Amino acid sequence: QFLLLAAISIPCLPRLPVLGSLPWLGGGLPPHLLFSQLAHRYGSLFALHLGPHYTVVVNDHRHAKEVLLQRGRDFAGRPNMVTTDLLTRGGKDIAFADYSPLWKLHRRLVHNSFTLFGEGTSRLQDIVLSSVDSLCAELLSGGRLGFDPSPAVTRAVTNVVCTLVFSATYRHGDAELQEVIRYNDGIVQTIARGGLVDIYPWMRFFPNKSLRKLKDSITVRDRLLTRKLEEHKASLTDGDPRDLLDALLKGQTGKSPGSEDEGITDDHVLMTAAEAFGAGVETTSTTLLWILAYLLHHPEVQDRVQKELDENIGSERAVCMSDRGRLPYLDCVINEGMRIRPVSPVLIPHTAMTHSSIGGHSVSPGTRVLVNMWSIHHDPQHWDKPDLFNPDRFLDNQGQRVTPSCFLPFGAGPRVCVGESLARLELFLFLSSLLQRMSFRLPDGAPPPNLQGRLGVVLQPLPFKVVVTPRAGWEGGAK
Ligand code: HEM
Repeated sequence: QFLLLAAISIPCLPRLPVLGSLPWLGGGLPPHLLFSQLAHRYGSLFALHLGPHYTVVVNDHRHAKEVLLQRGRDFAGRPNMVTTDLLTRGGKDIAFADYSPLWKLHRRLVHNSFTLFGEGTSRLQDIVLSSVDSLCAELLSGGRLGFDPSPAVTRAVTNVVCTLVFSATYRHGDAELQEVIRYNDGIVQTIARGGLVDIYPWMRFFPNKSLRKLKDSITVRDRLLTRKLEEHKASLTDGDPRDLLDALLKGQTGKSPGSEDEGITDDHVLMTAAEAFGAGVETTSTTLLWILAYLLHHPEVQDRVQKELDENIGSERAVCMSDRGRLPYLDCVINEGMRIRPVSPVLIPHTAMTHSSIGGHSVSPGTRVLVNMWSIHHDPQHWDKPDLFNPDRFLDNQGQRVTPSCFLPFGAGPRVCVGESLARLELFLFLSSLLQRMSFRLPDGAPPPNLQGRLGVVLQPLPFKVVVTPRAGWEGGAK
């Protein structure tokens, strides 16, 4: 039966020369919804041609686990794309670099550097908590008229990454912080948007407004980060690393075993620092905003989190990471936010590095694979009423936390998110502190937030307004 299946090709959309299946992908739906729709017609595993590129789309968690975990090594490659090549100096980062011994070494170094500041030390927690205090003060000063919480949340998360990467903490309105936010925004608006230039690389030779904007943002980014890198090199000591840049510089000596490559270069260090912003700001701040949007739709969920906080923490002190075990419902709210609105609804494309298979069908090297996390997180066979925001689905009958096997917000396997523990720490501390200290409600007469969202590099909620009121004991925002 296996041999029979291997010989049967994956159901594929029609194609034309040069255009591939593009004429069948119109209609204006964002890719995650379009792929979910096509899965009804072609089955959960189907293929299409993005221009000349044969691409398999995975919509089911069992196939996703094959690609990411069971045969994760086979599918750990990344395709070459014009926009990401520009962004990463030809793949000197983690997320868009193809699989290689040097990439493995680089990823391990980044992972170890994150661990140095995360697990086992309270430094990361201190960094986040100081940003939490400023965010709370800023939101509470927003007054009783409705305001958009998004700029303050983005600033707070950007500040965490700035402190983690190069030990800078900025005050509200600081020119350098604004510059970081501006260039990051320019990048996320233009990168890997499924634009034609990433399908037909020759299109980069024609005038292209989006590519121009991307290049300009990269120039500003590189100027700022190069300055930080040079300052760090000049002041590096033998002592403990002060931040991620120090840790990367200290780890630069490693070379991939038996290889001819030059090891981790300054370009790799710079691209890693840049990626901490690119991958770490928009994802985390957007997840927080989605959860706030859902809390405005479900005030009873906000009440229940606040009850849990009052009973287990009180108002005399700030929440810290060691409280996580005492706040299971809050954890479920975070998980449900990431399930119902995965910020990365279609994962970064993977490529097959060798002959392999998915669902028993054989797959050739070079095949691109898109994992549609949206379909997996909304599959009615695995989630009861998948469109309903229901944090209780992450609790069992005894009130214990459960993690369903089709819940994969950070991916899995060799390409799993390197920032997962940092992201989880931030989501927990930001959300618990906000709800401990203040309540959110809609401005009088305002409609609840639109939950459709808009797809940029991540799936974002449309702007919405909140009214914030301090909870007893937290009128100043911090203790
Ligand atoms: C990759 C989710 C925060 C750094 C990914 C992937 C997902 C993801 C789904 C793709 C996995 C794949 O391609 O198979 C998230 C979510 C976040 C978050 C939901 C926050 C709520 C962060 C943070 C950082 C980070 C804070 C770092 C500061 C990365 C990197 C990769 C990645 C470097 C590429 C890994 C690789 O290709 O080997 N993330 N992420 N992420 N993430 Fe995150």
